[in-house]
Amino acid sequence: MKKILLILFAAVMAMAACESKKPAADIEKKVDETLAQLSLQEKIKLIHAQSKFSSAGVPRLGIPTFWTSDGPHGIRPDVLWDKWRQADHTDDSCTAFPALTCLAATWNTEMAALYGKSIGEEARYRRKDVLLAPGLNILRHPLGGRNFEYMGEDPYLTGRMAVNYIQAVQRNKVAVCVKHYALNNDEIHRHTANVVVDDRALYEIYLPAFKAAVQEGGAWSVMGSYNLYKDQHCCHNQYLLNDILKGEWGFDGAVISDWGGCHDTDQAITNGLDLEFGTGTNGLNVEAKNPYDKYYLALPYQRKIEAGEYGTDELDDKVRRVLRLMYRTSLAENRPNGSFTSPEHFAAARRIGAEGIVLLKNEGGLLPVKEAQSILVVGENAIKKMTVGGGSSSLKTLHEITPLQGIREAWPEAQIVYERGYVGDPGNVFDGVSTGQDLQETRTPDQLIADAVSAAAKADVVFFVGGLNKSKYQDAEDSDRASFGLPYGQDAVIEALADANPNLVVINISGNPVGMPWASKVPVILQDWYLGSEAGRSLADVLTGKVNPSGHLPFTIPVEMEDGPVTTASQYPGIPREDSNLLDEYYSEGVYVGYRWYDTQGTAPRFAFGHGLSYTTFEFGEPRLSAKTLAGAGFWPADVRSDTQTGKGLTITLSVRNTGHVAGAEVVQLYITDEEASVDRPAKELKGFAKVFLEPGQRADVSFHIDPRDLAFFDAEKHGWTAEAGTFMAQIGASSQDIRQAISFELK
Ligand code: GLC
Repeated sequence: MKKILLILFAAVMAMAACESKKPAADIEKKVDETLAQLSLQEKIKLIHAQSKFSSAGVPRLGIPTFWTSDGPHGIRPDVLWDKWRQADHTDDSCTAFPALTCLAATWNTEMAALYGKSIGEEARYRRKDVLLAPGLNILRHPLGGRNFEYMGEDPYLTGRMAVNYIQAVQRNKVAVCVKHYALNNDEIHRHTANVVVDDRALYEIYLPAFKAAVQEGGAWSVMGSYNLYKDQHCCHNQYLLNDILKGEWGFDGAVISDWGGCHDTDQAITNGLDLEFGTGTNGLNVEAKNPYDKYYLALPYQRKIEAGEYGTDELDDKVRRVLRLMYRTSLAENRPNGSFTSPEHFAAARRIGAEGIVLLKNEGGLLPVKEAQSILVVGENAIKKMTVGGGSSSLKTLHEITPLQGIREAWPEAQIVYERGYVGDPGNVFDGVSTGQDLQETRTPDQLIADAVSAAAKADVVFFVGGLNKSKYQDAEDSDRASFGLPYGQDAVIEALADANPNLVVINISGNPVGMPWASKVPVILQDWYLGSEAGRSLADVLTGKVNPSGHLPFTIPVEMEDGPVTTASQYPGIPREDSNLLDEYYSEGVYVGYRWYDTQGTAPRFAFGHGLSYTTFEFGEPRLSAKTLAGAGFWPADVRSDTQTGKGLTITLSVRNTGHVAGAEVVQLYITDEEASVDRPAKELKGFAKVFLEPGQRADVSFHIDPRDLAFFDAEKHGWTAEAGTFMAQIGASSQDIRQAISFELK
């Protein structure tokens, strides 16, 4: 009887889950009824912007103006109706949450859900219908300017975190707008790069996170990207939007252009764009005066219909999708109230930040610092507020606790000295928002180093807080980094401090891997992130041991950038065309991105994908298989749903034990290797992870379910997924390099 009840329960849950992804029947009915009432003019007004961040409703029918807002880390302050200028509102200082690289570094889907809930409540409270987030582009190259807004180099990790963030945001009846679909992996020529990539890499690396976002996350809108693919701008692209997104994946939501990403009326009509924003702008600061009737999908489209060039089929499909988006958000019933800058939201920011910080090295157990009489803090990033800056994700936040402030709060009795160490960017204004700081400095670089070194000699412990800062070329939209190494002469400061005091902790704040030539001389290194409002407290929580670090790298940190897969001009930034302002950017490395490259090449990274230490240690037990063979080799066409499994899987179980003296969490990672593939495959691919929190001495079992579909590669000829019979190896580790256990099984 019990088993029957369980089966019934599972069936009901499955139906409920499906329901949540398919439009509810009542919404479809309302969409049809509304569509039938609209005039041609009213339909046209619904599919393009009327201001910088809003599009029209239908006043006659009580359909309200429709509001979008950036960004992935918090709700952007309002600009004027039709200007890239601050509206100078006084009610829009938000909670600034950590950058999404930090969320990925938690490897904790519960943190993704907490993040999505919190930011969704802020968007709802601010009466925004669409949150232009999350960014899901893969970190293909360490110079990519917006990698700090994304979730690293692996599509599986990005997808798992995205699904939980999206579902939580949309529970507030606020739509996400997953971006930038697709292949927008760098900034340097983001408007003119035509990406050339083979289908295998497209489907295995650059699409999976978007597919999961749509099919498992149930994303209600998707943002087309600026770049081109197959010579069509991605905001109106037959292949990406019609064939794949709406065709193979069955996306029923609306495609929104990036701001200024639409370039042609006919292509916008026929190639899948539903809602045009930002035309005449570059998405940041260039604008044309009130061009809204001139938008490609505005009067030009209406005139083509009136001239009989087009019927209204394409128009009705666009309007239907926009109305569906409205009935899910601005016209939804029982919309929650949301909440804004609440203690819970700041607590969430602090918790996610602390859980995402990655302890890369901790020689001699210098951390956690329990008691210290004298602490020296060095570095501009210890005092610079960095929530302002970086492009459209920049925020005006209610407060921002800097690392120095966090450290002072954490050690109120200690003597804490601060030294600048170097000058990076004393600027304090972005997008019309100022941090209010005056970071002017008159000392020369040598003087700054001399002052820091003399202070270091007297300190019990030295915290160097440096890295990048979201200024232009330093992790920012519309510009890529100019080099892999740290800017502003920081390497020299670190080397000098290492000579002056062995108790040196280097805290690198960045959204990208950086060069660390001094790594062997520095006993403790932390990878910190842009953590937003509670930055300094998250960091201090880890330095004091209040939080035992459990972050793991969402990307590889190579020794040299040249060790990586992208080394030629044709790969990046691309080859300019003779006959136009376009470039062709060849992703000729194929699927060999990140650890897929380094581990296949056997190139040792400085720190591996998935690496992260704790203040305790963990032991992995022998893995146990539910079966030695898996029957289910086969082929699945490209339009197979990402969340359907064949049901013929096997389970891998192993125990993990905390063998240290403090509670902590380990991220157990499952990598799969295809030992007998007929095609070239990476040495290993992440197919599962689990974060397990354990008290000292405690042991817990972790299980992974492997479905034949998880073993497949994308077969371009057959245009689908092939899982070939043969031997597979499951490698279980604490990073892509630190494999603790391995066990093989057969696929029949
Ligand atoms: C920007 C960005 C996009 C942002 C949009 C609105 O150019 O590419 O991420 O959401 O325009 O600011």
